[in-house]
Amino acid sequence: MDKLLSSWSSSAKSLPESYVFPVDSRPGDTNVPFCNTFPVIDLEAALANDRHDAIQQILKACQDFGFFQVINHGVNNDLVSDTMNVVKEFFNMPNEDKASVYSEDPSKKCRLYTSTYDYDNEKVHLWRDNLRHHCHPIEDFINLWPQKPARYRDVVREYSLQVDNLSSRILELISEGLGLEPGYFGDGLTGSQLFSVNHYPPCPNPNLALGLPKHCDACLITFLLQDEMYGLQVYRNGEWFGVQPIPNAFVVILGHQAQVISNGKLISPEHRAITNSKNHRTSIVYSINPKPDTIIEPAKALINKSNYPLYRAFQFKEFLKAYEVKKDYNEGALEDFKIKEELKEESSHKTRDQGCENQLGDLHLTK
Ligand code: OGA
Ligand code: NI
Repeated sequence: MDKLLSSWSSSAKSLPESYVFPVDSRPGDTNVPFCNTFPVIDLEAALANDRHDAIQQILKACQDFGFFQVINHGVNNDLVSDTMNVVKEFFNMPNEDKASVYSEDPSKKCRLYTSTYDYDNEKVHLWRDNLRHHCHPIEDFINLWPQKPARYRDVVREYSLQVDNLSSRILELISEGLGLEPGYFGDGLTGSQLFSVNHYPPCPNPNLALGLPKHCDACLITFLLQDEMYGLQVYRNGEWFGVQPIPNAFVVILGHQAQVISNGKLISPEHRAITNSKNHRTSIVYSINPKPDTIIEPAKALINKSNYPLYRAFQFKEFLKAYEVKKDYNEGALEDFKIKEELKEESSHKTRDQGCENQLGDLHLTK
C-alpha cells in the first residue's frame, strides 16, 4: 500500500520525477477559463414543459458538447451528499482499515489502487488514488465492497440504484431523440456498471502533474459527481475549459460507445482532471457499460442511403482491449473500428465488378 498517494503525498516536498508529464500533455497554467456555455439542464423543469423539450435540450447538448450538467435529476440530495461523505471517510481511514480492498490485480471486481491499472509499466504516474467496484446487479458484488465505514454498503447501494434509475431515464430521452425504438439501451448495452471514486490529494506541482490525462470515457455514458473543488476540464475547439462544480449536480459525459451507436451524431468529449496544491478533491464516477460480449454498432435506424455506417460492428470487450493495449484513450481508440477504408474498397469493387452506380455518393469520411 506504500504506493498509494494517501500513504506518502502529505509529506512530499516536491513532485517526484515519475509524476512529471511530458511538455505537450502537462497542464502548464491550470487557470483556464470556465465555459459559461456548457449546458446545465434542469431535468424537472424540462420535463414539466413537456418531454419533447427535455429531449431537445439533451440531444443538443450531446451533439454540440457530448456532455452536460443535470440538476433536479431526481436522485435525493441528502443521499448525494451522504455518498460523497462516506467515500471521503473511506479515503481518510488509516491504511490498516483499507488494506482488505487494496490490490494490484486489475481483474479484481473491487479494489483500491493508485494511478492506472498498470502502475509498474506506465510512463508517468497519475496523481490519484482510485477505489472502484462493480455494482450491477448489486447482489452479485456487494459482498466485495468495503465493510468500513460501516454504512458504506447501505449508502452506496442506494446511490447506485438511484443513479441507475436516472441513467435509464436519460438514456430513454436520448434514444427517443435519436429516433431509436423504446428500450434500445436495454440490458446488453447497459448491463455492466462501475462505481469509481477518484481521490486527488493536494499536489506539490499542479502545473506538471495530472490526476487523469486527456481521455474519452470507454463506456456508454458516465454520471460524474464532483465535490466543491474544481478540477474537471473539457477540451473543446483546441482549448481547455473548466467545468464549474454545481452542488448536487451530475456531469453527464457520453462515452465512446454512445458515439459509435449514434454513428457520430453524438460526440464523446475529451476531458481530464487537474490537481491543486491546497485541497483534496474527490469525484465519484458512475459509468454505464455494455456487457463484454454485447455487439456495438451504429444503430440500424440511423443508417440509410445518405448516412453510411462510420464504424464496424464489434464486441465491447474487443474495444476495451484496443483501448487498453494502445494506451490511446482519445479519438484514436476508435481508429481500428472506423470503416472508411473498407467502404472505399467496397465501393471500388462494386463499380468494377458490377458496373453499378457508386451508391456511396458523398461519403462522410470524416466525422
Ligand atoms: C474519469 C474522469 C474526472 C474527474 O474518471 O473518467 O474523467 O473530475 N474523472 O475526476
Ligand atoms: Ni473520464
